[in-house]
Amino acid sequence: MKKILVTGGCGFIGSNFIRYVLKNSDYEIVNLDKLTYAGNLKNLVDIEENSRYKFYRGDICNYEFVSYLVDREKIDSIINFAAESHVDRSILSSQEFIRTNVIGTNVLLEVARQNAIERFVQISTDEVYGSLGPDGKFTETTPLSPNSPYSASKASADLLVKAYHHTYGVPTLITRCSNNYGPYQFPEKLIPLMIINALSNKPLPVYGDGMNVRDWIYVEDHCDAILKVFESGKIGEVYNIGAENEKPNIEIVKLILKELGKDESLITFVKDRPGHDRRYAIDATKIKEELNWKPKYTFERAIKETIAWYQENKSWWQEIISGEYLNYYKKWYEER
Ligand code: NAD
Ligand code: TYD
Repeated sequence: MKKILVTGGCGFIGSNFIRYVLKNSDYEIVNLDKLTYAGNLKNLVDIEENSRYKFYRGDICNYEFVSYLVDREKIDSIINFAAESHVDRSILSSQEFIRTNVIGTNVLLEVARQNAIERFVQISTDEVYGSLGPDGKFTETTPLSPNSPYSASKASADLLVKAYHHTYGVPTLITRCSNNYGPYQFPEKLIPLMIINALSNKPLPVYGDGMNVRDWIYVEDHCDAILKVFESGKIGEVYNIGAENEKPNIEIVKLILKELGKDESLITFVKDRPGHDRRYAIDATKIKEELNWKPKYTFERAIKETIAWYQENKSWWQEIISGEYLNYYKKWYEER
């Protein structure tokens, strides 16, 4: 049985991925997570007793610890989800983004090289391509042109991954996915933030004119694509992942209000995010044609399920928004 080291498995996508893999494969999973503000053990309570799952608290930047763990657990492959992931926080302060996203990835690559790891999957993002005008989509050959400290740190990590493949033959793969939504997403991101504020009858802060476009994918479809790339992707390659579902932010916000039976007067237009990328759109032809992957969920179904999940799991998010989140919220939104 293969053993995969999943880093950042207590975050939004990592926890959904671990649950998905335990259900849909025979792999064993070792989860390494630092438990930053975004990492939450409660995201995985339902599987913590699973005999194919083990958790270690630790930092991907700690070379000695990662080395020890990979050796001790006899890890075959690494899938790196661990990251600082929120653009707005990277605008407030970028240091942790460079540390975890760049140095942390470098540590993992170095350990992979020294332990003859079979496959190394880097979970990247479409944001490394920068911003699109009204037409066109990102393909895997679109030049990297990141605009935020977050996306610049992710693009830097991608370049290191490519260099470790080219120079040392580390068997790497990179996935670049569009915006995810679904259960367990930290409420700093657009969709959970708007659901939670609407449920609490608080203002819904929409940046700029609300017409920035994101291309949305349900998290389980992303997890399924990652598993496909992990199992069948061609070493050294990049795979874009997306579900052809572009929407302006304001449309998403109005849909959430409608679904919750709340009034649009809760919408508040606030000062724009500095350097705000206008539009993202993914061309996922390569993964569809080469790996026979396609999304299973429609947006209409999955957004309803997501909204219902936040309604049914109030204690999960209420605990989060009473902690460190309050300081961040105040700092970022009070001056807008
Ligand atoms: P998240 O912020 O919800 O989770 C990140 C996890 O990484 C947390 O559990 C955190 O504790 C952990 N972590 C942070 N620093 C660490 C460190 N130094 N060592 C070990 N663990 C650490 O993020 P997410 O939304 O689940 O994103 C996961 C990955 O997917 C990221 O690499 C992100 O760039 C990428 N991605 C996200 C999206 C999206 O829409 N959320 C889209 C495309 C790609
Ligand atoms: P976000 O979820 O932060 O993802 P990203 O910036 O990585 O795409 O934001 C999605 C979009 O929603 C983005 O265009 C910024 C916008 N947005 C708001 O208008 N208001 C908010 O409070 C947040 C968090 C985001």
